[in-house]
Amino acid sequence: MTINEKGFVLNDKTAWPYVGLGTIDLVGDKGTFEILNALNSGFRLLDTSTNYNNEGIVGEAVRRSKLHREEILVSSKLPGSHHDYDKAFIFLQESLRRAGLEYFDKYLIHWPNPDDGKYVEAWKALVDAQKQGLIRTIGVSNFEPDHLDDIINATGVTPATNQVERHPYFNNKRMVEENKKRGILTEAWSPFGRGYLNDVLENETIKEIAAKYDKTPAQIIINWNYKAGVMAIPKSADPVHQKENIEATDFDLSQEDIEKIDALDKGEDGRVEGQDPYEYHEYV
Ligand SMILES: NC(=O)c1ccc[n+]([C@@H]2O[C@H](COP(=O)([O-])OP(=O)(O)OC[C@H]3O[C@@H](n4cnc5c(N)ncnc54)[C@H](OP(=O)(O)O)[C@@H]3O)[C@@H](O)[C@H]2O)c1
Repeated sequence: MTINEKGFVLNDKTAWPYVGLGTIDLVGDKGTFEILNALNSGFRLLDTSTNYNNEGIVGEAVRRSKLHREEILVSSKLPGSHHDYDKAFIFLQESLRRAGLEYFDKYLIHWPNPDDGKYVEAWKALVDAQKQGLIRTIGVSNFEPDHLDDIINATGVTPATNQVERHPYFNNKRMVEENKKRGILTEAWSPFGRGYLNDVLENETIKEIAAKYDKTPAQIIINWNYKAGVMAIPKSADPVHQKENIEATDFDLSQEDIEKIDALDKGEDGRVEGQDPYEYHEYV
């Protein structure tokens, strides 16, 4: 993974922006409109999943946008109920039909669900689906180092990204480093701690840093990810917030300020919903 002036170049040589749009809760016709607003503000990456119940409107926004399909990157995820090789393929085809898209630009195994022991099988399905052109870039989400090594050793194919929880109260530096060692880009989910479960946007240290740079707390957190070589995927339905979020990488936080934000980490207590990937299993 390398960084150029526009974004990240992944281990499969594809180029990705520094910031993408999380789409949890962007649903229905209102959601289509909110995603179109985000595209108009400059977002080019949409992060969806079957369990966000919005693959349909994400695809609808892509079609209704004045942008060409090739200009928009759509990323979705395989649920734990379909880790069997054959099931994974059928599920992916269904997901694409729901979205009304010919291919996903990126597709991730949503959770490893280690007790079921099928994530290697699921990874083999993604490797083959990529060869068939159904998905462009393949990656994982919430994978721990041993899960990463299992799929790499079984297939010789390293995921391009690993989407993990990361925000100032749970900075997950451990997984950022583990991903980096393997040439995998870290994507930060819930970069603002999901808004209501976690008050990072109200944190005094972050507010002080924001005032110093004449930026908003949200922009400071996105920039903190950018400076760490991490792609943030904040969700926002609000056009003002969306614009702020996409315009958050045109300045450089100082090392001192980065360290102040790093110091806000609360370890395991900082997770938004206690979702430890060794314990938490997701099926939808
Ligand atoms: N792979 C996984 O297991 C996983 C798990 C969770 C999430 N995700 C992905 O990560 C994305 C982001 O995470 P999330 O949706 O949990 O939460 P988040 O991005 O951490 O926070 C979203 C909250 O922040 C607010 N917000 C956004 N921009 C703001 C700004 N500039 N100023 C003030 N408030 C702002 C939003 O309100 P407004 O809408 O009003 O702006 C919303 O309440 C998801 O949508 C999803 O795509 C993946």
